[in-house]
Amino acid sequence: MGIELREVSKTFELKNRRVEALKQTDLSIKDGEIFGLIGFSGAGKSTLLRLINLLERPTSGSVIVNGVVLDGLSEKELRARRQKIGMIFQQFNLIESKTVYENIEFVLKASKYDRSKMADRVNELLELVGLTDKKHSWPKNLSGGQKQRVGIARALANEPEVLLCDEATSALDPDTTKNILKLLKKINHDLGITIVLITHEMEVIKEVADRVGVMSDGEIIETNDVYSIFSHPQHDVTKGFVQDIYDFVIPSHIRETDSSQVITIKFLDENAEANYVNQLYRHFDLDISILNGRIEYINGMPLGFLMLHVQGDSGEIGNLRAFIAESKGIEEAEIYE
Ligand SMILES: Nc1ncnc2c1ncn2[C@@H]1O[C@H](COP(=O)(O)OP(=O)(O)O)[C@@H](O)[C@H]1O
Ligand SMILES: [Mg+2]
Repeated sequence: MGIELREVSKTFELKNRRVEALKQTDLSIKDGEIFGLIGFSGAGKSTLLRLINLLERPTSGSVIVNGVVLDGLSEKELRARRQKIGMIFQQFNLIESKTVYENIEFVLKASKYDRSKMADRVNELLELVGLTDKKHSWPKNLSGGQKQRVGIARALANEPEVLLCDEATSALDPDTTKNILKLLKKINHDLGITIVLITHEMEVIKEVADRVGVMSDGEIIETNDVYSIFSHPQHDVTKGFVQDIYDFVIPSHIRETDSSQVITIKFLDENAEANYVNQLYRHFDLDISILNGRIEYINGMPLGFLMLHVQGDSGEIGNLRAFIAESKGIEEAEIYE
């Protein structure tokens, strides 16, 4: 189960040129996970997302959602399946002439929801997204975060199995973004809905995703769990996206020579840190001072950095580097400036 793209591609034929928005791609998204897709503008993220509910028809390949091959369906069958795939957008897409309540009700009416149960369902959705007190408000009187909550309630109205989020927090300030991401996490956890979320912000991925695909130029160039993407980015584009946490500046008074070197180490293991520096002091006949340190938590797992200034015999510094290379859960970090 989950979402499968098999050899899917999408080419747009324009008057004077063709755009390969998605080159031939295989992708598996597991049932119940939060999968993030990150990439610059124009990378093909929205196209990929729209292929999942067949708002775009693939040029080639197959889209399979929870075992159903979507590209084999008639328009009518597809419409029914699409109700099981909710979608939210950066621009919220609310109907301005309808209240919060009516915006949600509208979706249920369109899907021929049982009328006698409709009011209960709308109220239940309002409760879920924390908007019960805004029930009769108009969209123009809502904050961005509240508008997106209406968008989420609407997307969940028909009890979807999958929720697609296209830059859903890109129009929101950082605090509101955090709250909306928290709500998405809750929905994923409590309702077991698979979420595919696209963003150009690594912060969003770090906050909410289990796994991530990095897109560039119509291709998914790297896929991994979020911790591995941060701790061991492979592709240059990926390194660019995670560079904030690797961004240490070497103090200007420090001159690097054979006998004076800056070494930044990365801790992948919990609790290793304090004890490890003690070991370095004990084992090596070197002057070691700490220039900088930081710890990031990614899905609750620590990723630590420690920038050291090491002075002494260059051979002994080489021994220290070799020791670091052999230590479990510890690596010398490449600094991306
Ligand atoms: N309907 C369309 N017609 C023609 N070109 C399109 C269409 N949709 C997207 N594209 C092109 O496909 C590429 C990928 O776009 P998109 O999927 O929107 O990227 P992203 O969401 O990562 O910014 C871009 O070059 C874009 O101009
Ligand atoms: Mg887009």
